[in-house]
Amino acid sequence: MRLYLLKSPKRVAAAAYAHIKEILTSVSHPILGLATGSTPLRLYKNMVDDYLAGGISFRDTTTINLDEYVGLSGTDVQSYRYFMNKNLFMHIDIDIKNTHIPNGLARDLAKECLRYTELVDKNRPDVQILGIGSNGHIAFNEPGTPIESTTHVVNLDQSTIDDNSRFFDTIDLVPRQAITMGISDILKAKQIILLATGTSKAMALTRMLTKHFSADCPASFLQKHPHVTIYADESATHLLDKSGV
Ligand code: F6R
Repeated sequence: MRLYLLKSPKRVAAAAYAHIKEILTSVSHPILGLATGSTPLRLYKNMVDDYLAGGISFRDTTTINLDEYVGLSGTDVQSYRYFMNKNLFMHIDIDIKNTHIPNGLARDLAKECLRYTELVDKNRPDVQILGIGSNGHIAFNEPGTPIESTTHVVNLDQSTIDDNSRFFDTIDLVPRQAITMGISDILKAKQIILLATGTSKAMALTRMLTKHFSADCPASFLQKHPHVTIYADESATHLLDKSGV
């Protein structure tokens, strides 16, 4: 794993985008794994700005998102489909047919999970973007999720519901379940770029890097992947003994 320690979230986004752009422009039909949440918002803004400035095209790009809430339609403002359309897809030249997000409204959720894992098998991302939860989750793989997990329905941890309640009017409106790519799906990506900003991520990042990999901290399973790069700001790394990483 490589860790880049940067001064601010703005620099994290700029450095991560430079890396991602290098990957996207080195293949003819790139496959890009995407995450939602607050952390990648600046990165997506950089992608949009670069596209508008003529620096990159997403015409031949396919995207695969990590997760979606169960029970929300893509037009619901809280859904991850809505988030991606609003913050990225509607501002760039991507063909919306090539953007994939689990269907949280599928009648048969088990079948939807199988479909999604097959999709990832057939479309291994050239690069997967990840955030990290304050409890060490990646996508919605909460503590306790095994490394072999494929796409599945998850009951969200209370800490994740609490963290995500900032996006909702009341905590009661936060969905209790999500469909998430499993850890083994995530590890299929050719490269992984994880972004961590802010003090709320410091403990999770420290556990991910310094603990032997374990399901207690799902992000620690990334130690198993040969090409992981972490871009983190000073607040997210303040608990690390930097000499030891
Ligand atoms: C979202 C996702 C989550 C987030 C994590 C951090 O698609 O997969 O694992 O990356 O919860 O969220 P933020 O960035 O909002 O702190």
